Amino acid sequence: MPDAHDFRRDFPLLKQTMNGRPIVYLDNSATTQKPESVIRAIGEYYGQDNANPHRGAYALSIKATDIYENARERARRFIGADDAREIIFTRNTTESLNLVAYSYGLNYIGPGDEILLTIAEHHSNLVPWQQVAHAKGAVLKYIYLEKDGNLSPRDLETKITARTKIVAVTHVSNVLGLVNPVREIADRAHAKGAVVVVDGAQSVPHIAVDVKALGADFFAFSGHKMLAPMGIGVLYGKSALLDAMPPFLTGGDMIDDVAEQETTFAELPAKFEAGTQNVGGAAGLTAAIDYLEEVGFDRIHAREKELVAYALPRLRELPYIELYGCDTARDNKLGIITFNVKDVHPHDVSTILDAEGVAVRGGHHCAQPLMTYLGQNATCRASFYFYNTKDDVDRWIAALKKVREVMRLGA
Ligand SMILES: Cc1ncc(COP(=O)(O)O)c(C=O)c1O
Repeated sequence: MPDAHDFRRDFPLLKQTMNGRPIVYLDNSATTQKPESVIRAIGEYYGQDNANPHRGAYALSIKATDIYENARERARRFIGADDAREIIFTRNTTESLNLVAYSYGLNYIGPGDEILLTIAEHHSNLVPWQQVAHAKGAVLKYIYLEKDGNLSPRDLETKITARTKIVAVTHVSNVLGLVNPVREIADRAHAKGAVVVVDGAQSVPHIAVDVKALGADFFAFSGHKMLAPMGIGVLYGKSALLDAMPPFLTGGDMIDDVAEQETTFAELPAKFEAGTQNVGGAAGLTAAIDYLEEVGFDRIHAREKELVAYALPRLRELPYIELYGCDTARDNKLGIITFNVKDVHPHDVSTILDAEGVAVRGGHHCAQPLMTYLGQNATCRASFYFYNTKDDVDRWIAALKKVREVMRLGA
């Protein structure tokens, strides 16, 4: 099997330079790079098969429909869902979670009901629930963290009550990189009759996911964070829940019959897919799943763990580096390292690293309540994927050593 250096050959962008240096791409939590096979699949779709699906009786349209529905079946198998009707294509995780908040939340949550989140949610799994809480007079509550970044066991035990209607939790935090105990949370939530919404944006690309084993009622993820193009995402929902929900968006292709005053809606999954579908994105998603399955999640996870175990002791040697959430490698830690350089703003850190050809993210990572909880306005984040190497880590750390010097703060 190829090592990470060989995987890099499949990714044209990684052969480029950035600011005159071979690129070290460490912003994989934001979006991943795309292998040749995914780029080819998108090109082939637009070069040979492009037509509006589900509508035409001619060969091209039928082919486009097949490509789209094949992607749905591939996605179903990939996450272990029972039925392709439970796979709704959206634009991304954000749209998937908004669909649940607006279609389920606004219709099944009432005054005084509780929505329980973790403090580590990305804004995509937080702001929509705030909107629902404001609209319905519901109460937002949070599960907070232990010092090591894990969810507080006490909060887990006490905050899911008979009033809890939704537990919305990220499978893996995009800041801390820790895998949350979703199955345990789901069991507790279901025992109280609550519905469990899982943000899988940072888990699906990195570990094998089985939505049934997790006990998720809804599960959302984005194609672009798992080698596929931007603009295609997935919402998994249990069919009994999706069947009972009204459409989120309305218009073409999601109807059964339209009269002047009334409309009846299509069955799942079409009911939730208004307008022309992203068939090119679906073709890319199929190719991405093929590629990931070929690499294998054991290898992906092992590589990321290896890089974290390699990087953390080297970072701890630098007295001016502050690490957040977890400063030792452990089993539930994926390839995300969040840090600050003492007395230097994260935007300055990323700009200085950029000059060295190293791409990391600086900012609040769309997780402002978590930043506030950690007592920071912003942090830097390096996030790995299986195509990253120890050389990348060395280049990143060598660049970090220059930051304080460039800022004239001494070593
Ligand atoms: C944990 C998590 N949830 C949701 C999102 C939102 O993903 P998208 O912008 O693809 O909707 C992200 C993206 O960074 C994320 O990391």
